[in-house]
Amino acid sequence: MSWRGRDVVSMRDFSRKDLEVLFEKAREMERYARSGLDVLRGKIMAVAFFEPSTRTRLSFETAMKRLGGNVIGFSSAEGTSVEKGETFSDTIRMLDAYADVIVVRHKLEGAAKLAAEIAQSPVINAGDGSFNHPTQAMLDLYTIWREKGKVDGLRIGVMGDLKYARTVNSLLEGLALFDVEVALISPEFLRPRQETLDYIQSRGLRYEFYSRLDEVLGELDVLYVVRIQKERFLDPLEYERVRGSYRLTAESLRGAKDGLIVLHPLPRVDELDPSVDGTRHAAYFRQAAYGVPLRMALLSLILT
Ligand code: CP
Repeated sequence: MSWRGRDVVSMRDFSRKDLEVLFEKAREMERYARSGLDVLRGKIMAVAFFEPSTRTRLSFETAMKRLGGNVIGFSSAEGTSVEKGETFSDTIRMLDAYADVIVVRHKLEGAAKLAAEIAQSPVINAGDGSFNHPTQAMLDLYTIWREKGKVDGLRIGVMGDLKYARTVNSLLEGLALFDVEVALISPEFLRPRQETLDYIQSRGLRYEFYSRLDEVLGELDVLYVVRIQKERFLDPLEYERVRGSYRLTAESLRGAKDGLIVLHPLPRVDELDPSVDGTRHAAYFRQAAYGVPLRMALLSLILT
């Protein structure tokens, strides 16, 4: 299926072939991530961010501008007519009238799907609720492909809040397109939701649970760490039970394979100690930087 005009709402809508096309395009775009490539001149991207963001919004905006396009939109509902009571649907209708593509982030699951149903223009989900962050998963998979030269055959650890982190949910759905083994490392309470486990199992993804990193560290090629998503816990007492229950330090990486790469979607809080930054394993700042060529690739595939 062609990328042209497509919505990006969930990783479940994409095939392995789609991702391979995207990765090749992103590799090509790395050459233009600084110099620019004027292929979207005259196109307008609207960003509608109802939740905070640094990387996703700014890398999308950079990508659009590097491709010669323009950006409109907002990084908070504050200052928009949402404050006067305008509905989400009407806001999306307006952006659809002004722009060629809409990038939306919202705290409610399903917001991007609703936006895609309303808008004629393609809608890209920049994160909604605790289930979907598909362009982050595409970036995470691209980083693995780029840094390790492949995705198939790798042993991938995913550690942290696997229940509420939307990046994890989308990443697991994406990993299900490849021949990998996944180690899910977390306190029992923070294991992925059953609906996610049922989906990845139905797609044949092999996974095992671990409660401690040292049980599996020496076998891993990739370790993906996420913070505890404090803002998504309904009960503050539940958050207090798991707060600080895992923390990656340079010391805790002793025993890792030489070639292990540590990824993190960022922002980090206290689960990823700065002592890891200086180790050969740290790849998370490169991962964030790949966000620009990856999103240049996405926008150019969707809009040309
Ligand atoms: N990884 C990610 O989504 O970061 P932001 O919240 O800063 O966009």
